[in-house]
Amino acid sequence: MKQFSMIFLAFMVIAISGCAQPKEIQLPDPIITGGMPLMDALKNRKSAREFSDKNIDNQTLSNLLWAAFGYNRIDEKKRTAPSANNKQEIEIYCAMRNGLFLWNPDRNVLIPIVEEDVRAKTGGQDYVAAAALNLIYVCNNDVYGGGMSDSRKNIVYVDTGYISENVYLFCASTGLSTVARGFFDPVELSKTLSLPDSKWVVLTQSIGYPK
Ligand SMILES: Cc1cc2nc3c(=O)[nH]c(=O)nc-3n(C[C@H](O)[C@H](O)[C@H](O)COP(=O)(O)O)c2cc1C
Repeated sequence: MKQFSMIFLAFMVIAISGCAQPKEIQLPDPIITGGMPLMDALKNRKSAREFSDKNIDNQTLSNLLWAAFGYNRIDEKKRTAPSANNKQEIEIYCAMRNGLFLWNPDRNVLIPIVEEDVRAKTGGQDYVAAAALNLIYVCNNDVYGGGMSDSRKNIVYVDTGYISENVYLFCASTGLSTVARGFFDPVELSKTLSLPDSKWVVLTQSIGYPK
Protein backbone atom coordinates (compact mmCIF):
# COMPACT_ATOMS: atom_id res chain seq x y z
CA MET A 1 0.00 0.00 0.00
CA LYS A 2 2.81 2.35 1.00
CA GLN A 3 4.60 1.57 -2.28
CA PHE A 4 1.41 2.33 -4.24
CA SER A 5 1.08 5.72 -2.46
CA MET A 6 4.67 6.61 -3.33
CA ILE A 7 4.16 5.73 -6.99
CA PHE A 8 0.89 7.70 -7.06
CA LEU A 9 2.60 10.71 -5.43
CA ALA A 10 5.50 10.58 -7.91
CA PHE A 11 3.02 10.37 -10.80
CA MET A 12 1.11 13.42 -9.50
CA VAL A 13 4.32 15.47 -9.10
CA ILE A 14 5.35 14.67 -12.69
CA ALA A 15 1.85 15.39 -13.99
CA ILE A 16 1.58 18.74 -12.17
CA SER A 17 5.08 19.95 -13.14
CA GLY A 18 4.39 18.88 -16.74
CA CYS A 19 1.19 20.95 -16.80
CA ALA A 20 2.94 23.99 -15.34
CA GLN A 21 5.60 24.01 -18.05
CA PRO A 22 5.09 27.05 -20.32
CA LYS A 23 4.86 26.03 -23.94
CA GLU A 24 7.04 27.10 -26.85
CA ILE A 25 5.23 28.93 -29.61
CA GLN A 26 5.87 27.50 -33.06
CA LEU A 27 5.77 30.38 -35.54
CA PRO A 28 4.50 29.79 -39.08
CA ASP A 29 7.11 29.74 -41.84
CA PRO A 30 7.94 33.33 -42.79
CA ILE A 31 6.58 34.69 -46.04
CA ILE A 32 9.72 35.96 -47.72
CA THR A 33 8.36 37.32 -50.98
CA GLY A 34 6.67 40.58 -51.86
CA GLY A 35 6.62 43.64 -49.69
CA MET A 36 7.25 47.22 -50.69
CA PRO A 37 9.93 48.10 -53.25
CA LEU A 38 13.17 48.84 -51.42
CA MET A 39 13.34 52.50 -52.45
CA ASP A 40 9.80 53.08 -51.19
CA ALA A 41 10.62 51.38 -47.88
CA LEU A 42 13.69 53.59 -47.51
CA LYS A 43 11.54 56.62 -48.29
CA ASN A 44 9.08 55.61 -45.55
CA ARG A 45 11.59 54.56 -42.89
CA LYS A 46 11.24 56.61 -39.72
CA SER A 47 11.01 56.40 -35.94
CA ALA A 48 7.53 56.59 -34.43
CA ARG A 49 6.60 56.47 -30.76
CA GLU A 50 2.81 56.14 -30.65
CA PHE A 51 1.31 52.67 -30.75
CA SER A 52 -2.21 51.26 -30.86
CA ASP A 53 -3.45 48.29 -28.76
CA LYS A 54 -3.50 45.95 -31.73
CA ASN A 55 -1.41 42.79 -31.33
CA ILE A 56 1.03 41.59 -33.97
CA ASP A 57 -0.14 38.22 -35.30
CA ASN A 58 2.25 35.26 -35.46
CA GLN A 59 2.61 35.36 -39.25
CA THR A 60 3.67 39.02 -39.18
CA LEU A 61 5.97 38.32 -36.24
CA SER A 62 7.58 35.43 -38.10
CA ASN A 63 8.07 37.61 -41.18
CA LEU A 64 9.51 40.41 -39.03
CA LEU A 65 11.99 38.15 -37.20
CA TRP A 66 13.09 36.61 -40.47
CA ALA A 67 13.66 40.08 -41.93
CA ALA A 68 15.55 41.03 -38.77
CA PHE A 69 18.01 38.14 -38.62
CA GLY A 70 16.58 35.01 -40.21
CA TYR A 71 18.39 32.53 -42.43
CA ASN A 72 18.33 33.67 -46.05
CA ARG A 73 20.92 31.06 -47.13
CA ILE A 74 19.89 28.17 -44.96
CA ASP A 75 22.43 25.72 -46.47
CA GLU A 76 25.27 27.97 -45.34
CA LYS A 77 23.46 29.04 -42.14
CA LYS A 78 23.84 32.68 -43.20
CA ARG A 79 21.41 35.44 -42.40
CA THR A 80 19.59 38.58 -43.54
CA ALA A 81 21.99 40.83 -41.58
CA PRO A 82 25.79 40.64 -41.80
CA SER A 83 27.95 40.04 -38.71
CA ALA A 84 31.70 40.54 -38.37
CA ASN A 85 33.47 37.22 -38.96
CA ASN A 86 30.00 35.71 -39.35
CA LYS A 87 29.85 35.35 -35.56
CA GLN A 88 26.04 35.81 -35.44
CA GLU A 89 26.40 36.81 -31.79
CA ILE A 90 23.04 38.60 -31.44
CA GLU A 91 20.03 36.84 -29.96
CA ILE A 92 16.56 38.39 -30.13
CA TYR A 93 14.18 38.41 -27.19
CA CYS A 94 10.53 39.40 -27.72
CA ALA A 95 8.54 41.11 -24.96
CA MET A 96 4.83 40.99 -25.73
CA ARG A 97 1.53 41.14 -23.86
CA ASN A 98 1.60 37.35 -23.37
CA GLY A 99 5.13 37.22 -21.97
CA LEU A 100 8.81 37.35 -22.74
CA PHE A 101 10.29 34.91 -25.27
CA LEU A 102 13.64 34.10 -26.84
CA TRP A 103 13.42 33.57 -30.60
CA ASN A 104 15.18 30.44 -31.80
CA PRO A 105 15.87 31.05 -35.53
CA ASP A 106 16.85 27.42 -36.20
CA ARG A 107 13.40 26.10 -35.31
CA ASN A 108 11.51 29.42 -35.68
CA VAL A 109 10.03 29.02 -32.21
CA LEU A 110 9.54 31.43 -29.33
CA ILE A 111 10.97 29.96 -26.14
CA PRO A 112 9.14 31.23 -23.05
CA ILE A 113 11.37 33.05 -20.54
CA VAL A 114 8.89 34.99 -18.38
CA GLU A 115 5.16 34.31 -18.37
CA GLU A 116 4.10 37.86 -17.54
CA ASP A 117 3.93 41.12 -19.45
CA VAL A 118 7.34 42.78 -18.89
CA ARG A 119 7.10 45.29 -21.75
CA ALA A 120 7.18 48.27 -19.38
CA LYS A 121 10.46 47.01 -17.92
CA THR A 122 12.24 47.03 -21.27
CA GLY A 123 12.76 50.79 -21.44
CA GLY A 124 12.61 54.12 -19.70
CA GLN A 125 9.97 55.86 -21.82
CA ASP A 126 6.18 55.68 -21.42
CA TYR A 127 5.39 54.49 -24.93
CA VAL A 128 7.38 51.28 -24.38
CA ALA A 129 4.57 49.61 -22.42
CA ALA A 130 2.08 50.41 -25.19
CA ALA A 131 4.08 48.84 -28.03
CA ALA A 132 2.76 45.36 -28.90
CA LEU A 133 6.30 44.10 -29.31
CA ASN A 134 9.59 45.14 -27.79
CA LEU A 135 12.64 43.46 -29.26
CA ILE A 136 15.69 43.15 -27.04
CA TYR A 137 18.95 42.54 -28.88
CA VAL A 138 21.30 40.53 -26.67
CA CYS A 139 24.95 39.72 -27.33
CA ASN A 140 26.11 36.22 -26.49
CA ASN A 141 29.81 36.54 -25.54
CA ASP A 142 30.16 32.76 -25.65
CA VAL A 143 30.45 32.87 -29.43
CA TYR A 144 33.73 34.75 -28.91
CA GLY A 145 34.89 32.24 -26.34
CA GLY A 146 33.76 34.49 -23.48
CA GLY A 147 35.04 37.97 -22.59
CA MET A 148 34.39 41.23 -24.38
CA SER A 149 37.04 43.84 -25.30
CA ASP A 150 36.11 47.45 -26.15
CA SER A 151 37.02 46.99 -29.80
CA ARG A 152 34.88 43.87 -30.01
CA LYS A 153 32.04 45.76 -28.34
CA ASN A 154 32.13 48.29 -31.17
CA ILE A 155 31.71 45.44 -33.65
CA VAL A 156 28.74 44.11 -31.68
CA TYR A 157 27.06 47.54 -31.85
CA VAL A 158 27.57 47.65 -35.61
CA ASP A 159 26.22 44.10 -36.07
CA THR A 160 23.15 45.03 -34.02
CA GLY A 161 22.58 48.17 -36.08
CA TYR A 162 22.19 46.10 -39.23
CA ILE A 163 19.48 43.99 -37.58
CA SER A 164 17.69 47.03 -36.24
CA GLU A 165 17.70 48.67 -39.68
CA ASN A 166 16.27 45.49 -41.21
CA VAL A 167 13.42 45.82 -38.70
CA TYR A 168 12.98 49.51 -39.58
CA LEU A 169 12.67 48.63 -43.28
CA PHE A 170 10.31 45.72 -42.62
CA CYS A 171 8.11 48.01 -40.53
CA ALA A 172 8.15 50.70 -43.21
CA SER A 173 7.11 48.08 -45.76
CA THR A 174 4.35 46.60 -43.57
CA GLY A 175 2.82 49.75 -42.08
CA LEU A 176 4.14 49.09 -38.57
CA SER A 177 5.60 51.80 -36.35
CA THR A 178 8.99 51.29 -34.74
CA VAL A 179 11.73 53.05 -32.84
CA ALA A 180 15.18 51.81 -31.81
CA ARG A 181 15.91 52.46 -28.16
CA GLY A 182 19.17 52.93 -26.31
CA PHE A 183 17.36 54.31 -23.27
CA PHE A 184 17.06 51.31 -20.93
CA ASP A 185 18.60 50.21 -17.64
CA PRO A 186 21.05 47.46 -18.66
CA VAL A 187 21.33 45.97 -15.16
CA GLU A 188 17.58 45.81 -14.52
CA LEU A 189 16.83 44.56 -18.02
CA SER A 190 19.44 41.79 -17.71
CA LYS A 191 17.68 40.69 -14.51
CA THR A 192 14.27 40.76 -16.20
CA LEU A 193 15.65 38.57 -18.97
CA SER A 194 17.47 36.28 -16.46
CA LEU A 195 20.61 36.68 -18.54
CA PRO A 196 23.74 34.77 -17.52
CA ASP A 197 26.99 36.79 -17.09
CA SER A 198 28.03 35.88 -20.62
CA LYS A 199 25.12 37.79 -22.20
CA TRP A 200 24.32 41.52 -22.26
CA VAL A 201 21.69 43.79 -23.74
CA VAL A 202 22.94 45.87 -26.67
CA LEU A 203 19.82 47.66 -27.91
CA THR A 204 16.04 47.51 -27.74
CA GLN A 205 13.37 48.35 -30.32
CA SER A 206 9.64 48.99 -29.89
CA ILE A 207 7.21 47.91 -32.60
CA GLY A 208 3.45 48.12 -33.03
CA TYR A 209 0.66 49.36 -35.22
CA PRO A 210 0.38 53.15 -35.40
CA LYS A 211 -2.18 54.81 -33.21
C1 LIG B 1 21.19 53.49 -31.48
C2 LIG B 1 19.91 54.28 -31.35
C3 LIG B 1 19.35 54.52 -30.12
C4 LIG B 1 18.14 55.22 -30.00
N1 LIG B 1 17.58 55.36 -28.77
C5 LIG B 1 16.38 55.94 -28.66
C6 LIG B 1 15.72 55.98 -27.40
O1 LIG B 1 16.21 55.48 -26.39
N2 LIG B 1 14.50 56.55 -27.33
C7 LIG B 1 13.89 57.09 -28.43
O2 LIG B 1 12.77 57.59 -28.29
N3 LIG B 1 14.49 57.07 -29.64
C8 LIG B 1 15.71 56.50 -29.79
N4 LIG B 1 16.30 56.40 -31.02
C9 LIG B 1 15.62 56.94 -32.22
C10 LIG B 1 16.27 58.25 -32.69
O3 LIG B 1 15.91 59.29 -31.81
C11 LIG B 1 15.81 58.54 -34.10
O4 LIG B 1 16.32 57.57 -34.96
C12 LIG B 1 16.25 59.91 -34.54
O5 LIG B 1 15.54 60.93 -33.86
C13 LIG B 1 16.05 60.14 -36.04
O6 LIG B 1 14.69 59.95 -36.39
P1 LIG B 1 14.28 58.91 -37.52
O7 LIG B 1 14.64 57.53 -37.05
O8 LIG B 1 12.80 59.07 -37.66
O9 LIG B 1 15.04 59.27 -38.75
C14 LIG B 1 17.50 55.73 -31.15
C15 LIG B 1 18.09 55.50 -32.42
C16 LIG B 1 19.26 54.80 -32.52
C17 LIG B 1 19.84 54.55 -33.89
